[in-house]
Formats: sequence, structure tokens, C-alpha cells
Amino acid sequence: MKQTNKKTAAAKPAQKTTISVIKADIGGYVGHSSSHPDVIELAKSMLGKAKQNKTIVDFCVTNCGDDLELIMTHRKGCDSKEIHGLAWKVFEAGTELAKKLKLYGAGQDMLADAFSGNVKGMGPGVAEMEIVERKSEPIIVFMGDKCAPGAWNFPLFKMFADPFNTIGLIIDPSMHDGFVFEVHDIKKDKNFKLSTPEEMYDLLVLIGSAENYIIKAVYTKKGEIAASSSTQKLYLIAGKYVGKDDPVLIVRGQSGLPAMGEILEPFAFPHLVTGWMRGSHYGPLMPTAQKQANPSRFDGPPRVIAAGFQVSDGKLIGPRDMFDDPSFDYARIQANQMANFMRQHGPFEPHRLPLAEMEYTTLPEVLKKLQSRMK
Ligand code: F6R
Ligand code: MG
Ligand code: MG
Repeated sequence: MKQTNKKTAAAKPAQKTTISVIKADIGGYVGHSSSHPDVIELAKSMLGKAKQNKTIVDFCVTNCGDDLELIMTHRKGCDSKEIHGLAWKVFEAGTELAKKLKLYGAGQDMLADAFSGNVKGMGPGVAEMEIVERKSEPIIVFMGDKCAPGAWNFPLFKMFADPFNTIGLIIDPSMHDGFVFEVHDIKKDKNFKLSTPEEMYDLLVLIGSAENYIIKAVYTKKGEIAASSSTQKLYLIAGKYVGKDDPVLIVRGQSGLPAMGEILEPFAFPHLVTGWMRGSHYGPLMPTAQKQANPSRFDGPPRVIAAGFQVSDGKLIGPRDMFDDPSFDYARIQANQMANFMRQHGPFEPHRLPLAEMEYTTLPEVLKKLQSRMK
């Protein structure tokens, strides 16, 4: 008979890894088109020190257009004061340098004067998730420029709920039950969860209105986190419109979650998003390699980049530039064709946003001026 060892140690709780993506536009080079290499280098050296002193496990610094993106892994959980404080310090130092270089809109997303424990509500955008790493942990971090957080509604729905995009929902037994979407009502600041496929139509009536309802997270039916997005709307934070939010998104993939190819597939269609010139237009979301994410034509068109990583004991093995692939050439051509089409509307809707959504407007002054002439 086999002897059982009664002295087996109590099972150690699995170590958790937190992935925090914190971003801000702290100054554009040139105009709003891109970021200055010295600011990126400064951020790298500050996070390098934080890695050395073990505040974080690993990091990757990049930019999407004029947004500085800090991708960090650590052991401190979501909403950690220490990690948010570190990001805030990097943005403060970057703002100082941006001011010295007279970069455009230096410090534009630093809405608060001093850090108060969490960067949410202070200007920067945040997407975070705490996970127990699987045997292999592939993730993609999406980063957008010249668009709003609602830009992820369409692709997240496609990835996790549309069988015409994600064949795994039909033929992979481990995905066949569907997923749970957490939706944020940004105007009422309320969250609720909807389960697909059962509540797909209810979900669509909400998230089809991407300026009001934003997908904040997606979970498996067992409650495991699969995707997490930034839902901060700067204009709601500042009480007035102060810029486009240029959102970020973290998605886990494979082994019971959508495959990398199913996660990337929605971006083969450059769907229309709000943003672009003066944050006041609809335009196609163009997927590009990181080095091509420098919106220039009419300050756009809006961009999305995708940094792929294998997370290994908290280390970020990567990035792999997932849109740096000829299979997305057609989406880029189509986005340029759509950009031409939309541009020809000039100042007319539906290229220009409806009045309530525009970042810039002269309407109140024009109406005031015309008042005496009104019959
Ligand atoms: C869009 C964006 C730019 C600016 C535009 C005008 O999110 O940042 O399109 O709105 O370049 O900028 P200002 O008013 O600063 O000259
Ligand atoms: Mg800017
Ligand atoms: Mg930007």
C-alpha cells in the first residue's frame, strides 16, 4: 500500500501578478501628433529605478501618438497607491521636461495639482487587472489615440460575444458558455453586469451607445478577469471638455479565452469612433504598427496599436507589435478610404459630432450675436 505523507505543507496561495497600464498626454511633439523621445527615455529611466528597488516587477514604456503609455507589472494589486503614485511622479517629471522643450500642451492631462492616492479622476487613463498567471499567459495591451473610451465597445463585443468573429465560442467547449460583460454608465457613474449569449440584445442596446455606456471589463462565467479597459472620461472629470481620452485596454488570450487572432480580428474593420480633429469628429480607427502611430492628417485619423506580451512570473516578455503585419494593410487602406469619404463632409454631421459631444464649439457665441436679429 502507498504511504501518504501526512506532513504535506498547507497549500501556498498562488502568487498574483497585477498588470497596470497608466497613460497620459503630457505634451505633444509636434503639435498633438507624437511624443518626444527624451520624455520617453525619462519615463524608462524612472521605471527602471522602480524595477531595481522592486516597487514593480517589470515595465514597458511606449507611446501611441501624443500619449505616454506606462505598462507595469507588480505584486500590489489594482488601485495601489504606490503604483499610481509612481506613475504620477513619472508624468510630473515628464511634464517638467515637456515644459522645458515647450512641447505642445505640456501637462495637459494632469488635471489635479497634487497626487491624492489614486490617479483615477486626476486626468491619466488607467486599465488594470490582477491575475493568477496560467501555465502560459499571453496578453495584448491596446492603446488608442484621437479617440474616446467607447472605441473598445465594438471590438470587445466582437472578441467575446460574436461567433462570426470568434469561432471559439462555437467550437471550443471551454468557451461555449460565453462571457460576462461589466458595463459602466459613465454619466450616472453606475456599473452593471450582463451575461452573453443570454443577454446579448440587452447588452447591445446599451453598448451601441458608446458615448454613454462603456465596457469596463469582461469575465469568464467562472468569474476570471479576461479584459479590462480605461473608462475615464476627461470632460466628466474636469466638468468641461479638456481633451480626448485616448483609451487603453488589456486583454488575456488563449486556452479558454479568445485566441490572439480572434482578439485582433475586430480591428480588420476600421470602425468609426469619436475623436479625430479637435475631438469633434467621427473617423475610422486605423490599426498600425507602433512606429506608424503618429496621427497627422487632420490630426488623425484615430489610431490603435497592439503590444503583445507573454507574462512570465510578472516579467513582460515582449512587446511584439501585433499590427505590424501585412494582414492589416487592407484595414489601413480601408481606413484611408473611409477618412477621405468622411472628410468630404467638411463641417457637416455625421463627420462632425452632434452638438453635445463636441470638444470645441462656437454655438453659444454665434446664437448670442444673432439674438437681436431673430424674428
Ligand atoms: C484631438 C486633438 C487635436 C487638437 C487640435 C487643436 O484630440 O488633440 O486635434 O484638438 O490640434 O488644438 P489646439 O486648440 O490646442 O490648437
Ligand atoms: Mg495632445
Ligand atoms: Mg492623444
